[in-house]
Amino acid sequence: MRSIVVTGDRALSGEVRVGGAKNSALKLMAAALLAPGVSVLRNVPDISDVTVMTEVLEHLGATVVRTDHALSIDATTLTGHEAPYELVARMRASTCVLGSLVGRLGRAHVAMPGGCNIGSRKVDIHIAGLMQLGVEITTEHGFIDATGRARGAHVMLEFPSVGATENLLMAASLGSGTTVIDNAAREPEIADLAALLSAMGARIDGAGTPTITIEGVDALHPADHVVIGDRIEAGTFLVAGALCEGPVTVRGFDPSHLEIVLTKLRESGASLDVGADFVTVRRTGPVRPVDVATLPFPGFPTDMQAQFMTLMAIADGDCVITENVFENRFMFADEIARMGADVRIEAHHALIRGVDALSGAPVRASDLRAGAALVLAGLVADGETVVTDVHHIERGYEDFVGKLCSLGADVRTV
Ligand code: UD1
Repeated sequence: MRSIVVTGDRALSGEVRVGGAKNSALKLMAAALLAPGVSVLRNVPDISDVTVMTEVLEHLGATVVRTDHALSIDATTLTGHEAPYELVARMRASTCVLGSLVGRLGRAHVAMPGGCNIGSRKVDIHIAGLMQLGVEITTEHGFIDATGRARGAHVMLEFPSVGATENLLMAASLGSGTTVIDNAAREPEIADLAALLSAMGARIDGAGTPTITIEGVDALHPADHVVIGDRIEAGTFLVAGALCEGPVTVRGFDPSHLEIVLTKLRESGASLDVGADFVTVRRTGPVRPVDVATLPFPGFPTDMQAQFMTLMAIADGDCVITENVFENRFMFADEIARMGADVRIEAHHALIRGVDALSGAPVRASDLRAGAALVLAGLVADGETVVTDVHHIERGYEDFVGKLCSLGADVRTV
């Protein structure tokens, strides 16, 4: 089993480039199933979640060829319509083939995802939305079984679920009539998916706003698309820079996708230079305590909550981090407490009293972002931190260790 060993108290400076957004790439791969022929996705990160999604597509009969950071997805012939439990259990996001299979084949059999380390994560909003579009759905024996194509309808989401918005977008693009999704998720990854679908011939208006209108079409064609930069990977390196004072420049993403995180970093005492596709962070004074509440985009991303908690752990005072998106996303707090952080959890609030220093310890990554946040904690901890279960980190960060080393960190995988 691999671990990441971090020796703390090293200065960090220099420049890193982030890869394509994991949460975009996975859905774009599913969208490629909508058109017979070869679609090409560029700037696809080399991470294990993409490997699992490749297996899902191959299981359905598509051929996927990777050349460096490009994927050629040949969806000329699909031979199946099932996403098996074995793959969905490895990666919950595999459920995004539900929408594309309904669009392309009018048939999908997708394992229900179970619980995961950050909460129960239901799929009721996906199912209710598809049913409102006229797709027949039954859930039996642990599978969602969908039959029929989408017929235009007005769908009001109970919560702006990212995954539900994406499934509905894909299903409705290759269907009939006009679909309006209200209270849609506004994450940049939704706009990226709509950009690929539009390049494939879909007729979509309003992606990135709470109301998306889709005119169903009869057929889509393959397209060539560049994945947007990963705002969460960027945010993770910016927190690393703020922790270790910098200057650290993070390139390859759109800073407007990270606006509230940048605001909170400034409030915490960091100074930022913001360019078109980069941000440089540096810090000269103490870390100031800042309250944060996670919310759907454009609110503070839940995927940055753990990394921000690491920064607040060494703040010059007390603050509250409130988690509004997932029900159980504070498992990380117990691990960072082992490194000397003072964090108390009260329902969905974390009360943090900043300490002068963290101390290196053996800790376990409970999920992807928690894992990254523990490595960040190790960067400013006294002595050695050993993070286990690093497969979680490899799900979403390409060459995390190498990129940190290039900034001067003392980090290695053993
Ligand atoms: C996506 C991201 C994840 C991010 C999250 C919120 C991917 C692969 N993952 O996850 O990294 O943290 O958005 O920004 O893109 N919910 C329901 N019923 C549903 C659907 C969702 O109750 O049918 C609840 C979930 O349990 C959760 C909340 O809504 O508490 C948010 O879920 P959602 O926006 O759907 O997130 P994901 O698409 O799963």
